[in-house]
Amino acid sequence: MSKITAAITAVGGYVPETKLTNFDLEKMVDTNDEWIRTRTGIEERRILKEKGKGTSDLGAPAVQDLLRKRGIDASEIDCLICATVTPDMTFPATANVIADKIGAGNAWSFDINAACSGFLYALTTGASFIESGRYKKVVVVGADKMSAIIDYTDRATCIIFGDGAGAVLLEPTTDGTGVLDSILRSDGSGRQYLHMKSGGSVSPATIETVTAKEHFVYQEGQAVFKFAVKGMADVSAELLERNNLSADDISWLVPHQANLRIIDATANRMGLPKEKVMVNIQRYGNTTAATLPLCLWDWEKQLKKGDNIVLAAFGGGFTWGATWIKWAYDTK
Ligand code: UT7
Repeated sequence: MSKITAAITAVGGYVPETKLTNFDLEKMVDTNDEWIRTRTGIEERRILKEKGKGTSDLGAPAVQDLLRKRGIDASEIDCLICATVTPDMTFPATANVIADKIGAGNAWSFDINAACSGFLYALTTGASFIESGRYKKVVVVGADKMSAIIDYTDRATCIIFGDGAGAVLLEPTTDGTGVLDSILRSDGSGRQYLHMKSGGSVSPATIETVTAKEHFVYQEGQAVFKFAVKGMADVSAELLERNNLSADDISWLVPHQANLRIIDATANRMGLPKEKVMVNIQRYGNTTAATLPLCLWDWEKQLKKGDNIVLAAFGGGFTWGATWIKWAYDTK
């Protein structure tokens, strides 16, 4: 019998309508459009502004989008995994809330926290459930409302992040397409460079932690940049090598959208020309767990059955990784 693999059979996405442009940010902090564009590649990001709305309000419409495209009902989903660092609440899991909002009453659901690598971690986990033969329809969501944890007086971080969600449906196949290999890594000693100081069990929220702005993203940008360039490029090259793939075999690189300079360095290391690299950072900024599925969502119509695609990410933890998928369908 041929091996069961997990094919991506539909992609969904959602970004809120409100745009926060570089020119808007010029009025909020001491920055300018030219600096942001040349240092990061970002021109604008989307922000979920409505009061009382959270990450599940990004994830739910993204999943509904893919259900509509695949023509199936939410009740058919067996398992729903949400990668996020901005859950609606500390508990319950945002995946539970998304499943409730879309009516996925037969799904068990849970969150994965691996920051910007969260989607790759969740994709690999979901694919294993399909490969085992135990589940037939697993939804993997990457969703983050980064605006909830950004200090809009800190020019070092507020220019980078945005809100959004993307989702994929995994189903079993034996035709050789699907998630074929992954290399995932983590190194918790990197936490000093990228974290949120308070709100967890080490330092629960107090008036003092709020006053000290400890519930926002803390990032030492230059240090993270160096680790990200090396981590993403190394693991992508290793993935190609161990699968005997050359740059010519790869149709698309889907890199985490943190910084255009990190994306270029990864593509160069893999020997890939710009035409094969998905880049939408200029429109959405860094949406953390949502960057990779939002790229697939934007490029879905150009993908062809049999395309070799490498997804690569690096983020807080540190966590990083690369995944090789063979695309499973042509979009009509
Ligand atoms: O997705 C999770 C993983 N995260 C990443 O991969 C992010 C990795 N890091 C980065 O992308 C970059 O380090 C940043 C975009 C965050 C910053 O870019 P950089 O080229 O590393 O800038 P820098 O921090 O070295 O700062 C250079 C200069 C400094 O001024 P001085 O000290 O040279 O006078 C900063 O104060 O730029 C200044 N600066 C700004 N100027 C205008 C910092 N932020 C801004 C700003 N506008 N927004």
